[in-house]
Amino acid sequence: MTDMRVAIGDLVLQNPVMPASGTFADGLSQLFSFDRLGALVTKTITAELRGGNPTPRVCEVGQGMLNSIGIPSQGIDHFLDHTLPFYRQFSAPLVVSVSAPTAEAFAAAVARLDVAGIAAIEANISCPNIEEDGHAFAMHARSTARVVEAMRRATRLPLWVKLTPNTGDVAAVARAADGAGADALVVANTILAMSIDTETFRPRLGNIMGGLSGPAVKPVIVRMTYQCAKTVRIPVIGCGGIATAEDAVEYMLAGATAVQVGTATFVKPTAMLTVIDGLAAFCRRKGLARVASLTGAVRDHDLAVETLEVVS
Ligand SMILES: Cc1cc2nc3c(=O)[nH]c(=O)nc-3n(C[C@H](O)[C@H](O)[C@H](O)COP(=O)(O)O)c2cc1C
Repeated sequence: MTDMRVAIGDLVLQNPVMPASGTFADGLSQLFSFDRLGALVTKTITAELRGGNPTPRVCEVGQGMLNSIGIPSQGIDHFLDHTLPFYRQFSAPLVVSVSAPTAEAFAAAVARLDVAGIAAIEANISCPNIEEDGHAFAMHARSTARVVEAMRRATRLPLWVKLTPNTGDVAAVARAADGAGADALVVANTILAMSIDTETFRPRLGNIMGGLSGPAVKPVIVRMTYQCAKTVRIPVIGCGGIATAEDAVEYMLAGATAVQVGTATFVKPTAMLTVIDGLAAFCRRKGLARVASLTGAVRDHDLAVETLEVVS
């Protein structure tokens, strides 16, 4: 029997597989037991009621999908009164994804979530920072440090920080989050992308641009997971295009301690269970006593890994 537990700081998960924010909803509990998952991760919530982006909000592209859902939210009060009681019935730890337009608003939001039944906060800092240049906080090391410091002062809960792959230097942003007190990094959100309908000449999303997810992003995000895990001391949770156990293994070899499954759940609602069962089978086949021993086990020692700017 393989020990499937992994530790994200002080939080021990029974296995390394959990949903990606925004791709997981209550209704899935009719299909399988949420207690099989390593953790539960909510759709991002905001302090106030928010609408979403113009429609159409999703479209399929080769090997993935684009979405510009935005962050429609019923607000923190609604979450605490209605959504949290539902999730409290499960033993898997609940991670609440939260977003806000300023560092102070982020701090105020996470302070309100320090309640029984919430095991960790996932700060979705891939949203515009309206006080500075309007870029997502996670685009720059400086704005990342500011927002993470503000949240760190506001909560004792484990603080996971979700990065954007749209920054030019993800390792610098990862170090800034680590230095400011993050307990873990989630690498990463969607890649900014666009698709145009060649019959109508119109963008295929109402918001013109959106985020690419699914198998297409996996090699990019595996690379970022590797770069981040090499440069920070805290655990990295890999997220991007994971649909099979082999995808999860690849992320763990690159340095991830745990993984999140998003778009694959839309294709197959039980995809997370496939990944969990497949990971256990993989470990048995390889004779591994602990799934955690995969983390960072990529055999890169004899390669010139310090040359991260690869020229082709
Ligand atoms: C329809 C949809 C909605 C999403 N909503 C959120 C969200 O609310 N908060 C967030 O941090 N990420 C959100 N994401 C991004 C995912 O959590 C994940 O980072 C991304 O899709 C990459 O993983 P995947 O390739 O496994 O889907 C969303 C993705 C999709 C496809």
